[in-house]
Amino acid sequence: MIKIAPSILSADILKIENEVRKVDEAGADYIHIDVMDGNYVPNITFGANVVESLRKITNKILDVHLMINSVDDNLQNFINSGSEIISFHPETVPDPQKTIENINKNNCKSGIAIHPDIEIKDIEKYLNLIDIVVVMTVVPGFGGQKFMFNQVNKIVELKNIKKNKNLKFEIEVDGGINKETAKLCVDNGANVLVAGSYIYNSNEENYEKMIQSLR
Ligand code: DX5
Ligand code: ZN
Repeated sequence: MIKIAPSILSADILKIENEVRKVDEAGADYIHIDVMDGNYVPNITFGANVVESLRKITNKILDVHLMINSVDDNLQNFINSGSEIISFHPETVPDPQKTIENINKNNCKSGIAIHPDIEIKDIEKYLNLIDIVVVMTVVPGFGGQKFMFNQVNKIVELKNIKKNKNLKFEIEVDGGINKETAKLCVDNGANVLVAGSYIYNSNEENYEKMIQSLR
């Protein structure tokens, strides 16, 4: 089954409660929360307090994508906030394995997010420890960017490693997902699709229809 993870980065922040409830009722599997620090990426977004508040209004899996340089210092806050999946960019921490183990031992699912400049071979040694890989198909930082087709081969590489080594991680694609790119990613082995602007900036206002169109 293909899972859809609407990214609240593109939601109307003045109506955030309603925006999350709407995608929840429309059949979202995960709620994707993009945490940015104005340092690892130029943009600044949400902190652990936002995750904590959203935890109170939805039972959907909170899929937290950390795009911050101080992962280790902030990890406990995100764990305490009710995050169920915590993904981070390995180049932001001194010892990715330690960070992964710290997430896992706190009953959270762990994920590695892959910046377009990072190769699979650089993160391969962590794949047996994690629950999800986030293949970034845009340069992290902003919603509404164009899908980078040259990243699709990473989905295939991951699918092959997963099969050959009999691993369990999910393959999530993040950035520029629409009806066409969703199909391309799924055909190549992805099973979770993050979608921000496609869902929240659509003229449709019918989130169920938008989510269904990605499956
Ligand atoms: C980008 C974020 C994405 C973003 C995707 O740095 O990680 O999750 O919200 O937005 P769209 O779907 O508009 O590309
Ligand atoms: Zn994201």
